[in-house]
Amino acid sequence: MAETNKTATLTIDGQSYELPILSPTAGPDVIDIRKLYAQAGVFTYDPGFTSTASTDSTITFIDGGKGELLHRGYPIDQLAGQSNYLEVCYALLYGDLPSKAQMDDFEARVTNHTMLHEQMVNFFRGFRRDAHPMAIMVGVVGAMSAFYHDSTDISDPWQREVASIRLIAKMPTIAAWAYKYSIGQPFVYPRNDLDYASNFLRMCFSVPAEDYVPDPILSKAMDRIFTLHADHEQNASTSTVRLASSSGANPFACIAAGIACLWGPAHGGANQACLEMLREIGTVDRIPEFIARAKDKEDPFRLMGFGHRVYKNFDPRAKVMKQSADEVLDLLGVENNPVLQVAKELEKAALADPYFADKKLFPNVDFYSGIILEAMGFPTSMFTPIFALSRTVGWISQWKEQLDDPQLKIGRPRQLYKGETLRDYVPIDKR
Ligand code: SDX
Repeated sequence: MAETNKTATLTIDGQSYELPILSPTAGPDVIDIRKLYAQAGVFTYDPGFTSTASTDSTITFIDGGKGELLHRGYPIDQLAGQSNYLEVCYALLYGDLPSKAQMDDFEARVTNHTMLHEQMVNFFRGFRRDAHPMAIMVGVVGAMSAFYHDSTDISDPWQREVASIRLIAKMPTIAAWAYKYSIGQPFVYPRNDLDYASNFLRMCFSVPAEDYVPDPILSKAMDRIFTLHADHEQNASTSTVRLASSSGANPFACIAAGIACLWGPAHGGANQACLEMLREIGTVDRIPEFIARAKDKEDPFRLMGFGHRVYKNFDPRAKVMKQSADEVLDLLGVENNPVLQVAKELEKAALADPYFADKKLFPNVDFYSGIILEAMGFPTSMFTPIFALSRTVGWISQWKEQLDDPQLKIGRPRQLYKGETLRDYVPIDKR
């Protein structure tokens, strides 16, 4: 963030304060208010952080008005079309796309960390079979700090690197095992001769009685879904990871906190909620009823998979996801999937409705992802775990960036207090 000679003048009770303006390489300028409370004795007020930059970063840039998403400067549609998930992981973690030698080394390190400590099998078995896979992921990832003691010291750059690779490598195994456990099938171990996405699909769908060889089109679609969810600036779960890490918590605890935050239906849980909504709508003729409900201020119902805090245009990930949906459903011969028909008609109807156009509510990343995942054979309960698996590299990259920041301090927001002012205790027999 570059200092500029521009300042913002704030006047309170006749007293003026000059606040420095910092300029980014892209996006809006920011007003530096770090000294505001010390100088003026006032806080700023921004619940939900709609106008607040919590950090500077060089990883991901979003232009919500243009519907633009860049990872280390590379546009998401080019990465989704020409790169692959592990290569995007490398760029997010280390700052740029790898050379062939760097990519081979990185892929080998990830491949050789995909297995879980065998003792963790017992940890999985402590859950009820009907536990939501996200509950299992939060628990198991948090428990990794009890199994991998040699990569919890965040002051050691080598341990930070090992923890990063372990989390990226083991998340598919954890997600697949959470799925297998929930359907009562035996765990399938990762294999080193499969690429990242194929390994995950095989761990999910192979059984001892019959191996599963993923179709290359499905592996590519899976890899693309991972890429489209990899990172997204300072979203709620990434901000959770950064806040947890600012206290010095170990990486596994921080990522478990991010998984917990992602679970919510307003965030990563929207893909599950969206598919459940499309199924509840059921047929195209019921779309007007649900659009009316989404517009009704008295009705808490919202169109899942629509709207975004930052995008006030099409979410660029939704565009790529829509292409993948057509490819996968065509391959699987379910292009007439009734849920997809409802999704496409709902999108058309909503975008033609002034309510959504005026509020700039467009389909987001979660609108089409659930349709692809369902067509691939995943239950809706696995949609958010797949989002969490994909986002692990984003959380880790942002976690690393924050730990490398010399001005790092514990995150501790203040408040606008509206409670009782000082008063004396009244004994119960006098109340
Ligand atoms: C993700 O932050 C990220 O980057 C997240 C994410 C990532 O990659 O990390 O992109 C992933 O979380 C995508 C979003 C998934 N969530 C959903 O699809 C759930 C449905 N969407 C909404 O809950 C909502 O759009 C949010 C939470 C996503 C964003 O809401 P905002 O920006 O906080 O704005 P808001 O809730 O205040 O809505 C503004 C207006 C309101 O109307 P008014 O009060 O101004 O009259 O738009 C309305 C809202 O009622 N509105 C909707 C709507 N979303 C917003 N109305 C109907 N349906 C919707 N989906």
